[in-house]
Amino acid sequence: MSNMQRAIEALRASKKVVFFTGAGISAESGIPTFRDKLTGLWTKHDPERLETAAAFRENPALIWSWYLWRRHQVGQAKPNAAHLAIPQLSNAGWDVSVVTQNIDDLHERAGSSQVVHLHGSLMDVKCFACHRLGKLTPAQLEIAEEGQLIEPPRCVRCNGKLRPGVVWFRENLPEGAWRSAVRLVKNCDLLISVGTSGIVMPAAGIPNMALAAGATVIHVNLEDVGLDAADEVMLTGAAGMLLPALLRALEVGAPLPSGGFT
Ligand code: APR
Repeated sequence: MSNMQRAIEALRASKKVVFFTGAGISAESGIPTFRDKLTGLWTKHDPERLETAAAFRENPALIWSWYLWRRHQVGQAKPNAAHLAIPQLSNAGWDVSVVTQNIDDLHERAGSSQVVHLHGSLMDVKCFACHRLGKLTPAQLEIAEEGQLIEPPRCVRCNGKLRPGVVWFRENLPEGAWRSAVRLVKNCDLLISVGTSGIVMPAAGIPNMALAAGATVIHVNLEDVGLDAADEVMLTGAAGMLLPALLRALEVGAPLPSGGFT
C-alpha cells in the first residue's frame, strides 16, 4: 500500500485529529521558514541577535522594528490551500484542533477555531517589565522606513517597554498553551505533523508523544522527517498540494485541480 493510501486509511479511520504545524505550512503563503537552506530566516539573520531577551535588552528598537516588519509581512500574506484544508475537515465532521509553533494568524484567518499557539503570537504584545499583555494602536503598528528603527511603545501601567508576545530562545512556553497541547495530543487518534523540521524542543517531542499515546502520525514535509515507527506515515511534498489531496481522496473539500494528483 502506498504511503498516500496508508494516510488516507488512517484519516478515514480517525475521529479526533490534531494538526501539529510549523513554518513550512506558511511557506506557500510567502512567509519564510527558519531553517530552509536558501530562504530560511536563520540563513540571513542570527537568531541569537533577534530572538532572545538579551538581544531585546541590548537593542530594543532593532528587535521591535524586526517584529513590526514580520507582522507587516504576515498582514500581507493569505492562508494557502494547506491552511484552508484544516477547517474543511472539521466541517466534514472530524474533531479537529491545531497545535502550532507558528506566530502568524493564518490558521485563524483560514477559519480554524481551535488553535493553540505554543510559541506565542505576533498579534500579541506584553510588557518586558511587568509581563502584562498590552494592546497596540494602528499607529504603533506602522513599520519603519528602510534603515530606520522604531523604539518599542511603553506599558500603560508600569511604563516598561512592550515586547512581542512570542516565545524567544531559552524562554519557557506559555504554560496554558502547553497544557492544552499535551491534552489534545494525548487524546487524539491521528496527529498530522505539517512543515516542521522537528528540531526545537519541547514542541519537537509532540509526534513521539502522540505515538506513545497510541495515535497514528502522518508527517507532511518537503523532506523526509519520518522516524520509521510502525504507526507513522511520511508524505513527502508540498503541504499546499498534499493536504487538499488527502481530503479529496475522502471527498472532503474543493474539487481536484486539473491534471490530478502526481
Ligand atoms: N510544505 C511542507 N513542508 C515544507 C514546505 C512546504 N511547502 N516548505 C518548507 N517545509 C518544511 C522544511 O523542509 C522544514 O522541515 O518545513 C520545515 C520548516 O522547518 P523550520 O524552518 O525549522 O521551522 P519550524 O520547524 O517551524 O521551527 C521551529 O524554531 O526558530 C524557531 O520559534 C521558531 O517556531 C519556530 C521553531
